[in-house]
Amino acid sequence: MKRTICLLLLTLFFCGGKLLAQEAKSTVISINANEKAGDICPQFYGLMTEEINYSYDGGLYAELIRNRAFLDNAKYPDHWSLVKQGNAEGQMALDSIEQKGTALTRNLRLDITAADGNSRIGISNDGFWGIPIRKNKRYVASFYAKTNRDFNGTLLVTLESADGKVVFDSAIVSAVFGDWKKYTVTLATKKTTDTTCNGRFVISTREKGIIWFSLVSLFPPTTNNRPNGNRKDIMKLLAGLHPGFLRFPGGNYLQSRKIEDRFDWKKTLGDISQRPTHDNDSWHYHSSDGMGLMEFMGWCEDLKMQPVLAVFDGLLLTKINPITGDSLKEYVQDALDEIEFLNGDASTKWGAQRAKLGHPQPYNVKYIEVGNEDWFDKAKTWDARFTMFYDAIKAKYPDMQVISSAHVTSRMADYEDIHHYFSFKQASKLAHKYDNYKRTDAKVFVGEYACREGSPTTNLLGALGDAAFLTGLERNADIVKMSCFAPLFVNVNPGGMQWKGDLIGYNSFSSYGSPSYYMQKMFSTNLGNESVKSSISNVPLGADTSEQVFYSVTKDSKTGTLFLKVVNVSDSIQTPVIEINSAKEIVAEGKETVLWSKKVTDTNSIDDPENVTPVTSIVKGLGNHFTYHFKPHSVTVLKILEK
Ligand code: AHR
Repeated sequence: MKRTICLLLLTLFFCGGKLLAQEAKSTVISINANEKAGDICPQFYGLMTEEINYSYDGGLYAELIRNRAFLDNAKYPDHWSLVKQGNAEGQMALDSIEQKGTALTRNLRLDITAADGNSRIGISNDGFWGIPIRKNKRYVASFYAKTNRDFNGTLLVTLESADGKVVFDSAIVSAVFGDWKKYTVTLATKKTTDTTCNGRFVISTREKGIIWFSLVSLFPPTTNNRPNGNRKDIMKLLAGLHPGFLRFPGGNYLQSRKIEDRFDWKKTLGDISQRPTHDNDSWHYHSSDGMGLMEFMGWCEDLKMQPVLAVFDGLLLTKINPITGDSLKEYVQDALDEIEFLNGDASTKWGAQRAKLGHPQPYNVKYIEVGNEDWFDKAKTWDARFTMFYDAIKAKYPDMQVISSAHVTSRMADYEDIHHYFSFKQASKLAHKYDNYKRTDAKVFVGEYACREGSPTTNLLGALGDAAFLTGLERNADIVKMSCFAPLFVNVNPGGMQWKGDLIGYNSFSSYGSPSYYMQKMFSTNLGNESVKSSISNVPLGADTSEQVFYSVTKDSKTGTLFLKVVNVSDSIQTPVIEINSAKEIVAEGKETVLWSKKVTDTNSIDDPENVTPVTSIVKGLGNHFTYHFKPHSVTVLKILEK
């Protein structure tokens, strides 16, 4: 970086079929540090989540047993296998012995015809691409069992290597006999245990008879020790983003293709034995519903995020024949019940339910989104459906911020959710999408966006596209109020991904952030509370792929810190002049955080989780007028202080 004089170059370029001579100046970014362009919403950066790419089951939700309720496949107990050692004989099969007082409708029957002191037989679960075995950890295992009269005995619960040769820990459950009962044991690994992402969980016996198993569960320690809680490593990554809100439960997962497979919040409450589970037909795998409505709320509490709750509004993912008129009334009521469940005090019907389930304090939800992507409603019923929800919600909760999931004209929504999925090439145009956007309409909530370069998680090119796009959102913070990348998660194992270009990847054992994750972390932790008036010269605005530098300027008005973000999407160094018009002098020393790599296809992965990560350093030579060198293919945040 060094102070330079503005260069005047004589260049030639081809335009409109004519060869023109033109004077090209170096790029100048002019900042009016004391002129506010808009207030930045404290929830400007948030998270969007749904059950896709094994986001909860096999992802954030810490349950380690796959197909724990035996409901994933009606024909076969997927992910369960029979373990036989020595002379043991027997077989296992799905069954549906009634289990009163629960929502569980299927179980696994184990018939043991031969077993003895030297021969064990049992059932084994391989988890979500392996049971992760970590050092020095305590696991809580539980299951329901029922036996026939012949069985009167002892079960052995073990954490083992995939081939059963190593037993990491075991627990004995004695007196397992008679009708359905829940059994709970703890298992612990040692400081010296060899770690693996590929363990298995086994319940076995050395006695004969018949045993039925149901709802088999295994939890490692969770974030804040929440029962039925979340994986610690992934929560740590999320906390790093300082998210202001959580948009949930979808996405397509809210809607589904069949009405019975939508996210039916009432069926996701209470003890996991009370949850019937459902087919996630949006993304083609079964959902345990372990991540239910109250778990979403706990997740928000843990990360201090505002919940942005989407409610089903009659449009299925089939996008045809939306539910309308009188038939829609029950879904409007369902949304009102849900809000009462979350916000009502214990004297209300649904507030009392919440209190009974262990959360007496109302959650105080402030944002409700009606539907998902209702621009797909070709029957043109959207305006009428939105009106029904909007009027009913506002009548009962006048302060509730109601978000429309598509443009609506019948009512003025508080926010409109707009989605942008794009390639790197399309990013430059989108970076200017909101520059001339109507200021009189609903405020903008970019509820899903992603520059989909790279797979399973996005690479540096994706991060550059995302960053260019986000500078456009920050510059227009007077109208754009909230934004979140989608999809948030992907299980990187074969078969784990339904949608490529995700933010955070993991297997059963470890997790990592994509370059775009790190870019978002840079943006959300260097934001302030206002966007600042600024302009850029000598860059073709609104433009095409030839635009090389994207920027935004925001400010923390309390500390007088300016955050200049510059995205150099070109493969050469860019040296714009930065001019800061400020009532105060600019401190010469500042901080830069730079995300870059040699190749735009460079990325992060399970094996190389921090290949592309930002580096922060102290810089000198800043002032009211300076030139700065921005590396090729880089995202830079300059933290500049007013004296
Ligand atoms: O993020 C993946 C999907 O993209 C979401 O479920 C849906 O809302 C959008 O079309």
